[in-house]
Amino acid sequence: MPTVRVIDRDGVEQEVTASSGVVLMEPLRDMENGVAAICGGMCSCATCHVYVDEEWLAKLPAPMSDEGDMLGDLTSRRDNSRLSCQIVLNDALCGLKVQIAPEE
Ligand code: FES
Repeated sequence: MPTVRVIDRDGVEQEVTASSGVVLMEPLRDMENGVAAICGGMCSCATCHVYVDEEWLAKLPAPMSDEGDMLGDLTSRRDNSRLSCQIVLNDALCGLKVQIAPEE
């Protein structure tokens, strides 16, 4: 069961766990100070935006074009931006570190 280290918008680091095959957005949405994920993972709201730790970025599959399009519209976008609803967790991602991006 992958464990993910998450820095929330207050700068507090927490650990969350989720089953393999679950998208990262789901445990982040369940956090008290987590992501809104308004579209429920349909890649159409960008309220699940996170910054992926540089060490982990290359270990993730590249974003699909629709994710890239959504990220491109964000003023808070960085080179390590991803939509957490597009990241499927697996054991290889145990220890993944992300920071929840500011709300827009
Ligand atoms: S939950 Fe809406 S884009 Fe990820």
